[in-house]
Amino acid sequence: MTKLDGQVAIITGGAKGIGEGACEVFCQAGAKVVIWDVLEGQPTADRIAKMGGEISFQKVDITKRDQIEAAVAEIMSTFGRIDILINNAGIIRDKSFLKMSDDDWSTVLNVNLTGAFNTCKVIVPIMREAKYGRIINTSSINGTLGAFGQTNYAATKAGIVGFTKSLARETGKYGITVNAVAPGFIKSEMTDSMPQEVIDAGIATIPVGRIGTAYDIGHAYLYLASKEASFITAFTLHVNGGALPI
Ligand SMILES: NC(=O)c1ccc[n+]([C@@H]2O[C@H](COP(=O)([O-])OP(=O)(O)OC[C@H]3O[C@@H](n4cnc5c(N)ncnc54)[C@H](O)[C@@H]3O)[C@@H](O)[C@H]2O)c1
Repeated sequence: MTKLDGQVAIITGGAKGIGEGACEVFCQAGAKVVIWDVLEGQPTADRIAKMGGEISFQKVDITKRDQIEAAVAEIMSTFGRIDILINNAGIIRDKSFLKMSDDDWSTVLNVNLTGAFNTCKVIVPIMREAKYGRIINTSSINGTLGAFGQTNYAATKAGIVGFTKSLARETGKYGITVNAVAPGFIKSEMTDSMPQEVIDAGIATIPVGRIGTAYDIGHAYLYLASKEASFITAFTLHVNGGALPI
C-alpha cells in the first residue's frame, strides 16, 4: 500500500460520494486529510476519525477565493505544509442545450473549472516554495465522450484536461506533478436513484461487468498522489472498467 505518512492532503468535495471514499483511502495511507466542502462535512470527518484517520473539515466554497485563502492559512499554521490537492468537487446542472440557461452554464463552469483554478492559484505557490506537490484534478468519461444534456458539464470536464496538461508543463520544474482522473460510471446517490434496468444497461457497456465505486477512484487518486508517481504528470487516468473506446 502506498504510504503518505505525515503528508497533508486537501480533498475538495470530500463530504460525500467519491470524495468521501477518497478521504478514507488517504487516511488509511497515513495522510492528514482536510475536507473542503460547501456541505457540512464534520459527520464524514468524525466517522473516518473513528476508524483511526487523522481528518478534519473546513467549510470552503471553492468558488470563493477568500474562503480558500483563509482555510489555507489555517492549515499552514496547524501543519506547516500542503503536499496534496485533490480537486474532486463538482456539480451537474443537466439540461438539453436549447433549455440550458446562462446560469446553468456559468454555475457549472464556475464550480468545476474555475474552482480548480482558484484552489491551484492559492496552493501552487506553497508547493513551489516546498519544491514538492501533487495535484489531481477530476475530469469525467463524459468530458471525452460528451453526453446528452451535459454541454456545460462536458465542457468543464474536457477543460480540466487542458488545464491539467498546461499547469503540469509550468510546474514540473518545481517538483509538482499535475494529473487528472476521469471516472466512468460510479455508484453514487444519483445512480442509487436510477431504475435497476438503467443501471443494468450501463453495466452492460463496461467490460469488467460492474459499476465503479468511490474506492476505485480514491485508489487512482492515491497512486497519482504518491511519491512513487513522480515521473507521471500531465496525464489523464481513465478509471471506467474499460467503458471508454479510446
Ligand atoms: N459519480 C460519477 O459517476 C462521476 C463520474 C464522472 C466524474 N465524476 C466527478 O467526480 C467528482 C465527484 O463526484 P460525486 O459523484 O462524488 O459527486 P457528489 O455530488 O456526490 O459530491 C460532490 C461534492 O462536491 C461538493 N461541492 C459542490 N460544489 C462545491 C463547491 N463550490 N465548493 C466545495 N465543494 C463543493 C458537494 O457538496 C459534494 O459533497 C465530481 O467532480 C464529478 O464531476 C463523477
